[in-house]
Amino acid sequence: MAYSSLSEPVGDRECTLCKSDDLAVFLSLGPMPPANNFLEGGDLYEEEGFYPLDIYVCRDCSHMGVLPRVDPSELFSDYVYMTGVSDTMLAHLDGLAETLYDRYLEDVDDPFVVDIGSNDGSLLAAFQERGARVLGVEPADDIAAAAEDDGVPTMNEFFDGDTADRIVGEHGSPDLVTATNVFAHIPDLDAVTEGMNTLIGGDGAFVFENAYLVDLLEGTKFDTIYHEHYYYHAVRPLVSYFDRFDMTVVDVERLDIHGGSIRVYVEPGAAARSDRVDELVQLEEDRGLDDIGTYQQFADDVNDIRQDLTALLDRLKSDGNRIVGYGAAAKGNTLLNYCRIGPDHLDYIVDNTPFKQGRYTPGMHIPVKPPDHFRAEHDDIDYVLLLAWNVAEEIMSKEEAFFRTGGEFIIPIPEVRTVDTPP
Ligand code: TMP
Ligand code: ZN
Repeated sequence: MAYSSLSEPVGDRECTLCKSDDLAVFLSLGPMPPANNFLEGGDLYEEEGFYPLDIYVCRDCSHMGVLPRVDPSELFSDYVYMTGVSDTMLAHLDGLAETLYDRYLEDVDDPFVVDIGSNDGSLLAAFQERGARVLGVEPADDIAAAAEDDGVPTMNEFFDGDTADRIVGEHGSPDLVTATNVFAHIPDLDAVTEGMNTLIGGDGAFVFENAYLVDLLEGTKFDTIYHEHYYYHAVRPLVSYFDRFDMTVVDVERLDIHGGSIRVYVEPGAAARSDRVDELVQLEEDRGLDDIGTYQQFADDVNDIRQDLTALLDRLKSDGNRIVGYGAAAKGNTLLNYCRIGPDHLDYIVDNTPFKQGRYTPGMHIPVKPPDHFRAEHDDIDYVLLLAWNVAEEIMSKEEAFFRTGGEFIIPIPEVRTVDTPP
């Protein structure tokens, strides 16, 4: 597997947040294709793009991220993830709109909300229902068009300072700017933060949600690392980062969503800070986030998962078992490529997303089939490797009949284990 044309890393090898060049690379998961680049059959013999996937921690501010920072146009223009297809996500976004409306918009005349990376408009629709004026910014063409069709005004572009100026000029300064699972998807973070500052002016607020580094490290969720996620945020490095822009992290909450996330509230100037910010900064210190040993331990745990999983699959195959995968999630592609698990191990991967069915997983080229295909022959399948472990209960409950045939699930994260009864 050769590296194909490497995109220029955006920015040098420096910490995105504090600009230090003292980065410690403690784990290399690549070469790795972009995790959402599912292939058509005709593409299988074309050259595929592979990039290194190196994980660093900044020795100065403990910020964690990946290198290289692959050009976003290669990752997001043909984006396949739609927020609104998951009931869990929709309920979550509705709750977010409710909380933020109460906190920031209730007493405002003609409240105006801008969402960066607004996807299919699900979050903004929840603000519209509560009476706010809204505007989305979303670079993926199809998804932006879908949002417009649903009545959510959307600018189809990548957000930067220029976008911010145009929004303020045409619509005025928003009272609230949101970004869910976006603040990790931006290679040139400073340009976006400056744009954000322009947008909220002197009295707006910026609230974003992202996966939380503490949860990632503690659950050994290394498979959630892929090129789309340039950064893995923790509170302490963010506090100093926003300081640089004369903004304050005023509050922060931990959330269960996406395997453990944080919701970060940022306001302009030197605003008062809730105790919850200091509590999480302390928690991060207690958990050793500023100690390189913590990251080395994580890398060892990741390596153990690879060894245990490949040893188990090799043994099961040599005993004549049939194995398939379940859930062609992006994170599954990190796991499969890093552990080099391909069609020799897994006959196919079951997934209910129509767009993925009939395609092949990037890198390891395992075919994706609909659940009915699996159900029609599950008597002949012995093991299922659960790649979408974040929805383990939902999937195992749906496949109760497979357990009755004597089938077992293999769950790889946080440690490799088998399950022989439904939840
Ligand atoms: P996610 O980690 O992005 O939520 O991905 C979960 C994947 O699992 C997604 O590709 C859809 C698939 N899936 C099923 O095939 N069946 C299911 O019942 C559920 C909940 C998800
Ligand atoms: Zn740093």
